[in-house]
Amino acid sequence: MTVHFIGAGPGAPDLLTLRARDLIAASPVCLYAGSLIPPEVLTHCPQGARIVNTAPLSLDQIMAEIAEAHASGQDVARLHSGDLSVWSAMGEQLRRLRALAIPYDITPGVPAFAAAAAALGAELTLPGQAQSLVLTRTSGRASAMPATETLEAFAASRATLAVHLSIHVAEQVRDRLLPFYGPDCPVAVVWRASWPDQQIERGRLDELAELAARGASRTALILIGGTLAPPGELDQGFGESRLYAGDYDRRFRPVGPAPRFPEGGQ
Ligand SMILES: C[S@@+](CC[C@H](N)C(=O)[O-])C[C@H]1O[C@@H](n2cnc3c(N)ncnc32)[C@H](O)[C@@H]1O
Repeated sequence: MTVHFIGAGPGAPDLLTLRARDLIAASPVCLYAGSLIPPEVLTHCPQGARIVNTAPLSLDQIMAEIAEAHASGQDVARLHSGDLSVWSAMGEQLRRLRALAIPYDITPGVPAFAAAAAALGAELTLPGQAQSLVLTRTSGRASAMPATETLEAFAASRATLAVHLSIHVAEQVRDRLLPFYGPDCPVAVVWRASWPDQQIERGRLDELAELAARGASRTALILIGGTLAPPGELDQGFGESRLYAGDYDRRFRPVGPAPRFPEGGQ
């Protein structure tokens, strides 16, 4: 018996990996985080599966479900939205499973930031604009921010920021970032990326509060940085990676009379 932790993606039911689909189909028990998992994903569950929405359950109740499945030798598909490596509350479940010696594995999923970037048609690490992406959030009731992980600390780098769980404090995000990025820095807000009711608002950092007020849902990502300029506007503002330059000598494409890797290949 194994508990399969599965990243169920940002919303669109076809943004699920093939491995995820097959594990769901092979597991007689499915525990899913109800608020952000589309019902279509649950259609992969086998006939007669026990399907439980864990949104209203406590961690103790979730573990009781898993312990029951373990006792009867039934695999569990444990679905969380996006990918499991960020803000999934997986860590505390894994700790309990280790204590109970219940086996588990993890299948990654498409994270919200990737779905939002795709919706925007944006590369978040354009040469000359930004080469780092910071996935962060502001303090919430469920989890406080460590003292060193302030928006200001990340903003000092002027990397592209993907601010999660913060649409309700957009005004505060704006005020804290303005001194670092300036009022005309491009921003984008994407609500429910990849869902049928996906919404996108683009603008400048000093307009962020007004942009944020245009969406109805709390499931939204705020993206800030030079790479968020609307498609076309930035075309003169970033360089090309040297990787594909015709004269760039590299292992997979030796160039010139004395290539560094004359044998090519691996
Ligand atoms: C608890 S976190 C889960 C993050 C998830 N594990 C991931 O990999 O993206 C929930 C936050 O992620 C963002 N989010 C999740 N799904 C989203 C989507 N489809 N569109 C926009 N933002 C989303 C929002 O900021 C939301 O408040």
